[in-house]
Amino acid sequence: MLSNEKFSTWAEIDLAAIENNVRLLVQSTEAQIMAGLKANAYGHGVIPVSQAVRRAGATWCGLARVEEAMELRYAGYDGPILVLGFTAPGRVRSLIEADVAMAVWSEAQLEAFALAASEVGKPARVHLKVDTGMSRLGIPAEKALKLAGRIEQQQGVDFEGVFTHFARADEPDPGPTIEQERALRLVVERLEEAGLRPPLVHAANTAASLTRPSSHLDMLRVGIAIFGLHPSPDCRLPEGFQPAMAWKSQLSQVQRLPKGRGVSYGHEYVTRKTERIGTVPVGYADGFRRVSGNVVLIGGRRVPVVGRVCMDQISLQLDGVADAQVGDEVVLFGEQGSERIRAGEVAERWGTINYEVVCGLSPRVRRIYDSKKTEQNPDT
Ligand SMILES: Cc1ncc(COP(=O)(O)O)c(C=O)c1O
Repeated sequence: MLSNEKFSTWAEIDLAAIENNVRLLVQSTEAQIMAGLKANAYGHGVIPVSQAVRRAGATWCGLARVEEAMELRYAGYDGPILVLGFTAPGRVRSLIEADVAMAVWSEAQLEAFALAASEVGKPARVHLKVDTGMSRLGIPAEKALKLAGRIEQQQGVDFEGVFTHFARADEPDPGPTIEQERALRLVVERLEEAGLRPPLVHAANTAASLTRPSSHLDMLRVGIAIFGLHPSPDCRLPEGFQPAMAWKSQLSQVQRLPKGRGVSYGHEYVTRKTERIGTVPVGYADGFRRVSGNVVLIGGRRVPVVGRVCMDQISLQLDGVADAQVGDEVVLFGEQGSERIRAGEVAERWGTINYEVVCGLSPRVRRIYDSKKTEQNPDT
């Protein structure tokens, strides 16, 4: 059976799973949901995913970069968007024009935002980023009140939110997260006393959303749960969440090679007897890592990748699936028959986290959606 007539390698994105996962989050809280759709929605495709999360009740989209925000706006997404990270000064005007909110953590930024707002003739929407312990981005908690005061006074700037990011919410010890939440609450108390509290206070990533209801505040800022993936081995999603991505390819050639034949660059693998070796059109340029020990599914069975991973191809040892033939579907992660390889299993083999596995699929891997549910299907 030919598994796909159009593509060498593709990712199947289950938008119904994404909607299901967002609904579970919506049901779990009184707070609003900001969908973290950075990095092309963790590799799942930001435009169809933004539509799916909205249908399921997410009210905001959080992105890392100006370019991501503009892509989403140009695609017609008209809901609230926050750029969580750095906005290059030369792009501030574009974001104001596009009605995109920006993170602010310094007076210099605030002045640049205010100037751009006066030039554009529209207010700059800002969320104050407070560093409560991640030590990455944000104004130190003890200086937050002063900057909030400046924001409030600044003409042409709308103070919409204050937020922080947890560094260790996916670990078993809640101590560091409790400490960060306490620091944020202290900032918010001071803002309240000074009459400066903005409408939205937000902190909880997926891990905190699952484990610390007290951190939900006005809005969750969730990413990985939307895609049905566990935040970490120590912090797992409850029953009901569904993985949304499966990565697939197909057999392009099957050869019977005699004993002693080297396979792929460097001949790192040499056949030990007469062996069936299959070739699959996926490689490191697609995001499939060039490490040894890779495993894929074919015919509902696990089979080893042998020899070096090439830029565009891998080789399989097919003795465990005697009837495998050209065109058969190969699953790099996802389900096939009763077998499943999770992105987290691949991450373990690659010495990384499931986040990096799904974000790492290159643009060359075609994303395929259920067109009935997708208003704009990039596959067409
Ligand atoms: C600032 C910020 N908020 C929220 C998230 C969402 O995190 P998660 O995918 O663990 O839910 C991220 C992701 O790294 C982030 O950088």
